[in-house]
Amino acid sequence: MKENISINLKNAGSFISSEEVLALAQQSVRHLESLSAGTGAGSDFTGWLSFHEDIVRQIDRIEKTAKHLRSVSDTTVVIGIGGSYLGAKAVIEGLSHTFSHLQKSKHHDILFAGQNICEDYMSDLLEILEERNYSVIVISKSGTTTEPAIAFRIIRDHLERKVGKAQAADRIIAVTDSSKGALKTLADLNGYDTFVIPDNIGGRYSVLTPVGLLPIAVAGLNISSLVKGAQAMADVARKNKNAAANPSLMYAAARNLLLQTGRPVEILVGFTPKLHYFSEWWKQLYGESEGKEGKGIFPASVDFTTDLHSLGQYIQEGQRILFETMISIRNPKRKMTIPQEHDDSDQLNYLAGKRLSEVNHSAETGTILAHNDGNIPVLRIEVPELDEFYMGELIYFFELACAVSGYILDVNPFDQPGVEAYKKNMFALLNKPGFEEAGKKLKEKLK
Ligand code: PA5
Repeated sequence: MKENISINLKNAGSFISSEEVLALAQQSVRHLESLSAGTGAGSDFTGWLSFHEDIVRQIDRIEKTAKHLRSVSDTTVVIGIGGSYLGAKAVIEGLSHTFSHLQKSKHHDILFAGQNICEDYMSDLLEILEERNYSVIVISKSGTTTEPAIAFRIIRDHLERKVGKAQAADRIIAVTDSSKGALKTLADLNGYDTFVIPDNIGGRYSVLTPVGLLPIAVAGLNISSLVKGAQAMADVARKNKNAAANPSLMYAAARNLLLQTGRPVEILVGFTPKLHYFSEWWKQLYGESEGKEGKGIFPASVDFTTDLHSLGQYIQEGQRILFETMISIRNPKRKMTIPQEHDDSDQLNYLAGKRLSEVNHSAETGTILAHNDGNIPVLRIEVPELDEFYMGELIYFFELACAVSGYILDVNPFDQPGVEAYKKNMFALLNKPGFEEAGKKLKEKLK
């Protein structure tokens, strides 16, 4: 049996005591219970708690579809934004070869669209797609989100002109609601193959549904193992009333106690660039789930050691409003040692024969000690290695902790009412039918 990821609170010990963390974690068992019983805020959106059990039945179909896309094309464009984009991006970037797009061997590229409205991005993408034999996965739960809808219109038009309408329909897969939304209508009209996003799972909790699993499978990664990791973490954390042995409860409790010590900013830290988009996924999960009613911990992220040469200065000596959560990966997948040099002109022979990971771990330990000295508490999530299984564990661990943490803060961790504000203004400024009056008022304001 594989060991599980774990949480280490030692480097937060002089800021919050282990007794108070344990006490809050133990009190938070009631939040786990209300999640399971469906009695807490937003209980219509807790399907992700056990969906890894249901998705097993869809793995074959997802893998078959992925195989089809890989056989008819060399590139897949994944269209989506927010929760319909970040999970797949996080896992694919985290587990693929860092320079996969430059590898000469036969390789299937995954490109993303619909996560912005930048004209230059889309023009550059179309230029690349002109020379590619590509497929499309379009993902939108509501089926009406503006950014992916615009991207899909442009890319669909391009693909249909390139390969014809029938061929295009064979290469477009829609992941959306079972019955409503413009994307569902388009899919039915054009006969696209579709996967359903369950009603009871919101975007940012959907990476282990076809939303994340289909693009991840097309990228050639092992989705069964990802789901197994989530299952393993669910076994450890979902119903575990012994808070000390429940990493999600301990993390949720520790971060809320650190907030209470006057630290409203949490920085997720990775010591590998492979975790960059995992941090983006985490920021969306926590930012959208907790940031409401004037509450919440602001989620930020850094990639070390890269950012030790930029934000590291602020973290060490700036305003003391921060704490860090470090994802600490024990073993890298690959091996590399630093060579010995005859004349030692760069004075690095003291490192000769050492693995890069040894140097990286020393950087990590040195950073923790320095940041502790600078009054920054550090929570550590210890991960044996970065593979599909542990990625699945991390996803479930953070999702469960996020829901519990939202309940500790007394907010609904499953809605995002604040996201509507910019949309209303944008629609009004663009004269969307139904927004004429609001448009007039805004234009007055802008004079
Ligand atoms: O977490 C969420 O619910 C959001 O971030 C959504 O995922 C995002 O707004 C995209 O929505 P949709 O999938 O409906 O296009």
